[in-house]
Amino acid sequence: MTTLLEVSGVSKTFDGFKAINNLSFQIGERELRAVIGPNGAGKTTFMDIVTGKTRPDEGRIVYGDKGASLLKMSESRIAQAGIGRKFQRPTVFEDQTVFDNLMMALKNKRGPIAALLYRLDQRDREKVAALAESIGLRASLPRPAGELSHGQKQWLEIGMLLAQEPKLLLVDEPAAGMTPAEREHTTDLLKEAAKTRAVVVVEHDMEFVRRLDCKVTVLHEGSVLAEGSLDHVTKNQDVIDVYLGR
Ligand SMILES: Nc1ncnc2c1ncn2[C@@H]1O[C@H](COP(=O)(O)OP(=O)(O)OP(=O)(O)O)[C@@H](O)[C@H]1O
Ligand SMILES: [Mg+2]
Repeated sequence: MTTLLEVSGVSKTFDGFKAINNLSFQIGERELRAVIGPNGAGKTTFMDIVTGKTRPDEGRIVYGDKGASLLKMSESRIAQAGIGRKFQRPTVFEDQTVFDNLMMALKNKRGPIAALLYRLDQRDREKVAALAESIGLRASLPRPAGELSHGQKQWLEIGMLLAQEPKLLLVDEPAAGMTPAEREHTTDLLKEAAKTRAVVVVEHDMEFVRRLDCKVTVLHEGSVLAEGSLDHVTKNQDVIDVYLGR
């Protein structure tokens, strides 16, 4: 598998506390990866570093086939280079319809000038319909996003990220606050998205991670503690000790 993102020897200290400690991590093109680990393990900080929100103290992050260094790029350039990120709280435009939310996300991809010149053409409508279908919201296209359930808002936000065609999608705790049925749909959606891009999912819910059926990276104290299938890592004695607080 071709490597899309390579993090090597990255560290980040906050007020003397090592949130990320000599972290090395690789993700391939079109790979689905789950990242688990106890509270404070550094999972969100890892995403902050990859997206340029937080600058590490040391280490390297190389991205894409040209081997660009993410550490030299601004947050907006990293986003333009195809790294999309989903935060825990859905941030959709509640007063706008599902259709308009997705259409705005499509427009954004083309930049401000294209957005000004933009006309609602049939191809874009079809694209929005296809996106809505993939996130299970086709029937909800005319509804204001504010009327959607919490889970549906999360899917809409994932759809808005997919509209921008990221090469790497980072998703932090998507299942929090979802019903079991919504969780199931979310795993299907992320698995589907990972067929055409890399997707990294941070999640505490082990049933959710099991359904993702992918390689798992366990973070602890800012480093990789174990990596492999969920069955493999949950049999690892270090992982067991960390989760049991020993
Ligand atoms: N901006 C910051 N300033 C100071 N400390 C921070 C900052 N960001 C993160 N930390 C600390 O770094 C550590 C790692 O936090 P992080 O949020 O990455 O953990 P996490 O694995 O995402 O945890 P959780 O599962 O609870 O979301 C924590 O101890 C946190 O308090
Ligand atoms: Mg977190």
